[in-house]
Amino acid sequence: MPGCFERTVILRDGTPVRLRAIRPDDERRLVALYDQLSRDTRYHRFFSVMRRLPPDWARFLANVDRQRRFALVAESPADADALIAVARYEPAEPPGTVEVAFVVQDAWQNRGLGGALFAELLRAAAANGITRFRAWVLADNRRMLDLIARFGDVQERRVEQAVVELLFTPRARRGATDADDR
Ligand SMILES: CC(C)(COP(=O)(O)OP(=O)(O)OC[C@H]1O[C@@H](n2cnc3c(N)ncnc32)[C@H](O)[C@@H]1OP(=O)(O)O)[C@@H](O)C(=O)NCCC(=O)NCCS
Repeated sequence: MPGCFERTVILRDGTPVRLRAIRPDDERRLVALYDQLSRDTRYHRFFSVMRRLPPDWARFLANVDRQRRFALVAESPADADALIAVARYEPAEPPGTVEVAFVVQDAWQNRGLGGALFAELLRAAAANGITRFRAWVLADNRRMLDLIARFGDVQERRVEQAVVELLFTPRARRGATDADDR
């Protein structure tokens, strides 16, 4: 049940990372996470680079209904008060479809966390009856495109001005919970 979602995933190097549903008090943690992102990561996530995450964005992003809108956060193993990644879905068109977006703090990229978040976000969405997904990904973002190809069956793919828009359904896979379980 996504409402009380909580899970520990083990990264490829053996590091345990706690995932949980986002909470309203994560607002300040989202601002702190954004402060730590490289310019490149900010651009790939938001398609623009802002100096700070605007407070009204942080409030919107931290407050979800856990059904139509849902987000998972990953806590830093060294400091549970700090976030190292966020995975979310938001309502999209046509009705019954959600848009997914991910961000992993630079120092934690390429360690399997994005894959673990992808699997868990799909699991949470399935619990809410959601089976159709959209993603807008910059065309040079090989890692994100690779993750979608690994976890999804792409139904539609459009490229416009260096942005790839994908519509996909989850690919049936055995019940993976760990980052290295694929
Ligand atoms: C995209 C992102 C979420 C992926 O998370 P991650 O934790 O770095 O990803 P993982 O380590 O789980 O997996 C990355 C996969 O991409 C693939 N990959 C990595 N580098 C690649 C490259 N240069 N070319 C192609 N594929 C690559 C690999 O298959 C890798 O899988 P592996 O686990 O088999 O090695 C993360 O890098 C990120 O936050 N990037 C910036 C923001 C962003 O792009 N968000 C997406 C917007 S929707």
